[in-house]
Amino acid sequence: ASVVQRLWKGRVSAGMLSPRLQRAMKDYMSANKHHVSYTGHRKSSQSAKELLCQMKAQAQLKTVDGLEEPFSSLGWADFVPSRPLGQLNRQRESGGFKSCAVVTSAGAILRSGLGKEIDSHDAVLRFNAAPTEGYEHDVGNKTTIRIINSQWYASPDYNLFGPYVDHRKAHPDQPFYILHPSYVWRLWDVIQSNTQENIQPNPPSSGFIGILLMMALCEQTHVYEYIPSMRQSDLCHYHERYYDAACTLGAYHPLLYEKNLIQRINSGPESDLRRKGRATLPGFSTVDC
Ligand code: C5P
Repeated sequence: ASVVQRLWKGRVSAGMLSPRLQRAMKDYMSANKHHVSYTGHRKSSQSAKELLCQMKAQAQLKTVDGLEEPFSSLGWADFVPSRPLGQLNRQRESGGFKSCAVVTSAGAILRSGLGKEIDSHDAVLRFNAAPTEGYEHDVGNKTTIRIINSQWYASPDYNLFGPYVDHRKAHPDQPFYILHPSYVWRLWDVIQSNTQENIQPNPPSSGFIGILLMMALCEQTHVYEYIPSMRQSDLCHYHERYYDAACTLGAYHPLLYEKNLIQRINSGPESDLRRKGRATLPGFSTVDC
């Protein structure tokens, strides 16, 4: 069976990857650039319900609120949005998002025809600069939330903090947050604690972060082309001609293990995964722990 077929069943291991991806993974393991060491337990066979309860407890939203150093000295408490991220969904009169969609930028969403279905959700989350124009038929055109990549204060991959302050000043009404690194690393712990193999010691992908964010904000979330459909290919993004299996299966990010975990809490049928690349996940507010 291919790696993708194994993902549909929720039984993956790094040994199924191509030699090139296995080597890339090993290199990131030995580099361990974030100095991660995991001493926690590994739970071998939690049920979907137990997993959801662990996520609900461990994945409480946290953003940079300006109350901690170095941000407090820089006066950030006045820059960040006054409405907490966890209450973003209260903007709607109806009180909260009932249905949400997370749309990855995977090439496999091309020729899916899912645009209308995606736009029928109360809120739609997209990633980075993924365009909708020209791709509406397959990805829809509604965008409620975007997750943008970055790195952390002392050595960001991109110059993040100056532009953040400038953007806040220029668009004070736009709810624009920086996720707290402790939130991101707690999500990493959830993945490692439920995986027997050692996962890459790097932050989860923004796909995984976006999924757990929507589970905190919505009663139900549909995730599109994260667990790949039968359309899966090496095309990295639907909007550019760049081919690399690492985009879907991971090299830097523990993507394979993230996807396996999402498969374990998926309540939709396997036929949704095959045909639509669609997983169905409950909101934390609906899970009784
Ligand atoms: O590439 P980019 O970071 O913009 O993609 C957003 C997220 O979508 C990734 O973090 C990953 O979780 C998911 N993705 C995927 N397969 C792809 C491309 C992206 O699962 N081929």
